[in-house]
Amino acid sequence: MTVIGTGYLGATHAICMAILGFEVLGVDVDQRKIDALTAGIVPFFEPGLDEKLREALDSGRLQFTTNFDRAAAFGDVHFICVGTPQAPDSHAADLRYVESAFTELAKRIDRKALLVGKSTVPIGTAERVTGLVQEISPLGAELELAWNPEFLREGFAVEDTLHPDRLVFGVSSEWAERQLRAAFRPILDAKTPVVVSDLATAELVKVAANSFLATKISFINAMAEVCETTGADVNLLATALSFDSRIGGRFLKPGLGFGGGCLPKDIRAFAHRAEELGVGQAVAFLHEVDGINNRRRVRTVDLIRELAGGDLQGKRIAALGAAFKPNSDDVRDAPALDVARMLYLEGAVVTVYDPEANENAHRLYPDLNYANSMIAAVIDADVVALLTEWQEFTDIDPENLGKLVRHRRVVDGRHALDADDYVAKGWEYRALGRPVASRTISFVMDARDEVDA
Ligand code: UDX
Repeated sequence: MTVIGTGYLGATHAICMAILGFEVLGVDVDQRKIDALTAGIVPFFEPGLDEKLREALDSGRLQFTTNFDRAAAFGDVHFICVGTPQAPDSHAADLRYVESAFTELAKRIDRKALLVGKSTVPIGTAERVTGLVQEISPLGAELELAWNPEFLREGFAVEDTLHPDRLVFGVSSEWAERQLRAAFRPILDAKTPVVVSDLATAELVKVAANSFLATKISFINAMAEVCETTGADVNLLATALSFDSRIGGRFLKPGLGFGGGCLPKDIRAFAHRAEELGVGQAVAFLHEVDGINNRRRVRTVDLIRELAGGDLQGKRIAALGAAFKPNSDDVRDAPALDVARMLYLEGAVVTVYDPEANENAHRLYPDLNYANSMIAAVIDADVVALLTEWQEFTDIDPENLGKLVRHRRVVDGRHALDADDYVAKGWEYRALGRPVASRTISFVMDARDEVDA
């Protein structure tokens, strides 16, 4: 099989497929990525993937190339894993990389093969691209297309690829289904549920899943807004809700909200596509989901300003975290960096530290200060802001941290710190959706953590 596009999704898919025993050729137009991967270096941070890459290379089953002629000759099944970023001038998905990958392959393929889209695309793309590739391929209608959406989470990419919750095969023929079943045989043998559908349903599963997750996060964050004006505590509320097995505790963590390369752009592209299809009203709530999410960032800045005495000008803020979530170096649409940027624009002296994402953050916002350790970031801080819940930050003893800062003031943007411990050690502690003199019930929180796990 070939895997076209060796970014986050493609590199992981290529490596894992080789681990599962297939002959895999990874393809990209970016020579630097191909050189790095060939040399056994994963060009982004993902726990456990480096080892898997080396294991796959050592097996002799994984190779990389920039040569599309070679790819077309090599594959029986071609997986298209290129990006679909948000278009520069609208909420639509930018499909130029998807179209280019499909057409570059299609015009070269001269024996029966299956093209499988894995990228997240607007509904109707697979059908449209089928027409496109069949027109230009020497095989004509013999060249078939399928859609196999990918649900992997950054930070758990290997686990999610090798042991997914489910597989979805969007196909137009029994032959295509057989090809996909063969391509995922080891995963299907492990009794992974598979849903075989038409192309449109397969496309929709992915955006519907991400919309649901985003909605769940924004739901609890909307409750946090209500808590802020009523004196209720969103943490206790989330805990109480999580024990209802119909609701569950996962993706119900309040705080700074969602970011990253998927959830924000996928819900926007979905709403945009639904409007194009004349069913915009059905998903109009996604605009509100996005709005709630963005307000959390602004409100976090408000909390930090309040704690800093009402004015951020010249205040030293330690921004702990830049990545959109822990165990990732991805800063695309990262709530943490957005908060740091807003603080900076109000005149604060912001020092950012992230265990893995400093370099990517610096490329995006070179005007912020970057520290190369947590300690360097918090020295003499007026306010410490926990923006991404890396374990390094949640493990620190508030007493030790307190010795480094100018003022013991902390904003916990992720409800990840032990509020009682901080308060006991003389810190002013604030978190979105929690009253100032917050009562925490730690045994209840422990129980919720188990529900999450
Ligand atoms: C997401 C989907 O989970 C995955 O299935 C899809 O394939 C790609 O998009 P990912 O972007 O890796 O994966 O991140 P995810 O773990 O879903 O977290 C998204 C964001 O939501 C993060 O910024 C995280 O901090 C935030 N989040 C998550 C919350 O604010 N609260 C929660 O309870 C859970």
